[in-house]
Amino acid sequence: MQVFENFSLKTLNTFGVEASADYFVDIEKEEQLQELFSNDSYQNLPRLVLGGGSNMLFTQNFKGLVVHLNIHGLSAEIHGNDVFVRAGAGVIWNDLVNYCVDNEFAGIENLSLIPGSVGASPVQNIGAYGVELQDVFHSCRAFEISTGKIKVFTKEDCAFSYRESVFKSSLKGLFIITEVTFKLSKIFQPNVSYGAIMDELTKRGINQANISQLSQVISHIRVSKLPDPTTIGNAGSFFKNPIVPESTFNTLKIKFADMVHFPAGEGYVKISAGWLIEQCGWKGKVVGNTGTWKNQALVLVNHGNASGDEIFRFSSAIIESVNSKFGILLEREVNII
Ligand code: FAD
Ligand code: EPU
Repeated sequence: MQVFENFSLKTLNTFGVEASADYFVDIEKEEQLQELFSNDSYQNLPRLVLGGGSNMLFTQNFKGLVVHLNIHGLSAEIHGNDVFVRAGAGVIWNDLVNYCVDNEFAGIENLSLIPGSVGASPVQNIGAYGVELQDVFHSCRAFEISTGKIKVFTKEDCAFSYRESVFKSSLKGLFIITEVTFKLSKIFQPNVSYGAIMDELTKRGINQANISQLSQVISHIRVSKLPDPTTIGNAGSFFKNPIVPESTFNTLKIKFADMVHFPAGEGYVKISAGWLIEQCGWKGKVVGNTGTWKNQALVLVNHGNASGDEIFRFSSAIIESVNSKFGILLEREVNII
């Protein structure tokens, strides 16, 4: 295990912005975390855990220690119709999905093609196309930095909700997830309720999709809407879809009858942030080196040489204009460093 100094993070964040870390270490085994943090000088530094850097915006250099999770390993145990899949934090999320789809371990296929690592997936309870991580999460192992001990978190411990978990709130920065166990099924029940899935299946003449066809269709829809971070820097949705009380929604609906919205539990409505941003005229706009994606206004992009600070300032302009038109304060989904 080598700790590097003054390490560039440009290729380790999907926005592709320039930033450096005072110290950087790549962790390949859980035990290395014990070794690292038994050294007081690393215990006391500001820390940042990094997976694939696909949900981060660096607005400055990181004056501390970046711990990059690179723990691999993927295995499955079958009990009746249940399949328990264990994956190291450093496994690429989509490699896990492909492994499950290839082996017909069902439940995770709607989360095809989400960038990033397994270790980060519980942090914001990743979700797409009608499925959230919490639907397939069984437990995870996490290293507690202050004690050097491993704790196992069950689903209940994680307090998952829309793009939230305990790792983003009360335990933020205190634990490093080293492994996640997923509970999948040998029985495939296609979840095709969201958006364009049915349309795309019909277009392909597929009546009863198998797991691999569903994964392919979801990947296809994603590619048509979202920019590929290897060619255009971005971190997916920059903001969360705001959840408002039904009464607020009903008032807004009088003025904005076609406001795109989804149910969000009793008494609440989720409003499409992409729609709100588009209505303010931002969709596809290029401002300096940044802008929003032409097919999805919720995605902010780096058109080449944007700095993190420029993207951050652009996001503030969007927040202001949505607030002044709709009285809704957008919350950033991306982690701002
Ligand atoms: P990072 O960006 O490296 O880290 C994200 C956060 O998790 C940080 O706070 C970090 O400190 C913390 N973290 C990372 N690893 C660990 C660990 N092992 N232990 C503790 N904390 C950790 N997200 C969705 O939910 N749904 C989508 O559909 C979706 N689509 C996307 C599309 C594109 C094109 C892009 C670029 C991003 C998209 N995202 C989506 C966002 C992103 O892929 C997810 O948030 C992903 O889980 C981030 O993984 P990562 O490894 O890159 O995490
Ligand atoms: N819409 C617009 N204009 C836009 C974008 C969207 O009007 O520019 C409206 C359209 O009516 C569209 C609807 O909003 O049909 C929903 O759009 P989409 O299906 O793209 O979903 P989203 O709500 O914008 C969320 C997630 C995505 C996830 C998709 C699919 C959040 C913050 N984002 O986006 O996650 O992939 O649903 O499930 O919840 C991410 O988190 O990074 C991410 C990409």
